[in-house]
Amino acid sequence: MDRPVVFFILGGTGDLARRKLYPAIQSMLRKGKLKNLSKIFALGRKREKLEETLAKADPVFKRIFEFVEFDLTDRKSYKRLSEAVSTLSGKELIFYLALPPQLFEQAVVNLGALLRDFTNPRKLVIEKPFGLDLSSAKKLNFLLEKYFSEEEIYRIDHFLGKVPVQNIFALRFSNYIFEGVWNKNFIDHIQISALEEEGVEGRVGYYDSVGALRDMVQNHLLQILSFIAMEPPSVVETESIRDEKVKVLKSLRKLSPEEVSRQVVKAQYEGYSQEVGRVSNTETFVALKLYIDNFRWQDVPFYLRTGKRLKEKKTLAVVVFKKVPGNFRSFLGCAPPQNMLTVEIAPGNRLKLSINMISPQKLEACPLEGSMELDLVRELGEIPSAYETLIEDIISGDRTLFVRGDEVEAAWEIVQPILDSWEETKDIETYKEGTYGPESAFELIERNGRRWVN
Ligand SMILES: NC(=O)c1ccc[n+]([C@@H]2O[C@H](COP(=O)([O-])OP(=O)(O)OC[C@H]3O[C@@H](n4cnc5c(N)ncnc54)[C@H](OP(=O)(O)O)[C@@H]3O)[C@@H](O)[C@H]2O)c1
Repeated sequence: MDRPVVFFILGGTGDLARRKLYPAIQSMLRKGKLKNLSKIFALGRKREKLEETLAKADPVFKRIFEFVEFDLTDRKSYKRLSEAVSTLSGKELIFYLALPPQLFEQAVVNLGALLRDFTNPRKLVIEKPFGLDLSSAKKLNFLLEKYFSEEEIYRIDHFLGKVPVQNIFALRFSNYIFEGVWNKNFIDHIQISALEEEGVEGRVGYYDSVGALRDMVQNHLLQILSFIAMEPPSVVETESIRDEKVKVLKSLRKLSPEEVSRQVVKAQYEGYSQEVGRVSNTETFVALKLYIDNFRWQDVPFYLRTGKRLKEKKTLAVVVFKKVPGNFRSFLGCAPPQNMLTVEIAPGNRLKLSINMISPQKLEACPLEGSMELDLVRELGEIPSAYETLIEDIISGDRTLFVRGDEVEAAWEIVQPILDSWEETKDIETYKEGTYGPESAFELIERNGRRWVN
């Protein structure tokens, strides 16, 4: 597609734009990509926030970059924007909402109305969080669909831009050896963890109104789960892939209030309320156990866990296979460890398969745990940042790595009963910084004889 493309970044002076979007665009320009990107308009109120970015920017980037003073609440700003758009006839317009989420609705409605006067091909990119609950997500979808077609909408979940997450698809559907064992007959359980070392530095206001369940589980962790659990699509093509992911989300068992109290752990790191400056019951940690009611996954637990101020920064998905049969469980008094396939998403980009092997002493002695590793960076060379992949896909019009409207609602359908149940109980457990979270998170998995893998 060689049509010239113009980016309008609403929130173009913000943290996301400065830390992720501009570096990604510059990196691609250096690689000779984005040949049809003719202009980037950074829309915002405070030009001075761009000084450092521009001081360090490449000349090629600076040549196509322009700041436009723009306040969403000010009519004159729209007039300026409309004038800018009127000079871009024939070009594709990409509007990227890198705004505080409470401004999404207003931005969609006002942009949608403004664009009615133009015939340019257009795309609308919207950052997370997509709504704060099921009803606000539905409302946002309704507004988006009023002004834009689904083909024009790109709902971002930046985890889908990460190569090791996409590699789950390649791992499953280009390696026939896994298909036969990828089910309840061979898999004991699955764990998905996104552990963070940092707290809520500088984002207290946003985070306190959202919490870990909305910030991480509703989107990123359920997206990883969908890739792990989906059926092979009928064809390898955007809508078939998204259809299969939606089916997984729709097959997830919704939790009753009793199940929420047994299967969901909500906790906060000590000192969080002090940081917020008042007593808060927002969770900075959540762990939960979910089940998928379908033929492949019946009774296989999916354990999800995420939190801030933990011992290390790590994102991983672990497929834990079943134990060997009873009569082989005891090799001179030891049980062989269960095989595990680990997808490490951060800090490394690795796949690891644990394989037990013979002990050097004796055939009957306890087998030793070995491992086979595939390092994606070593194999592929440099791998692009999530935002590089996503921006390239937006420009080329590939929506596979973006979340469809029904998909985002299906994910909220799982999270909403938990939020509802939490409305009833305001109590929150605490955990010490630098640990792997609260006691209850260990209890959640250990009560069934399992353990978290870090
Ligand atoms: N930061 C990240 O690492 C990250 C990661 C994933 C997703 N996100 C998502 O990305 C979005 C932006 O986050 P952020 O961290 O970049 O936020 P931020 O640093 O607070 O930036 C917000 C941006 O919105 C602009 N803005 C605010 N009110 C405005 C108004 N009335 N009119 C026009 N512009 C206005 C600000 O412009 P001025 O300051 O110039 O007024 C600024 O450019 C959020 O949806 C967030 O959830 C962020």
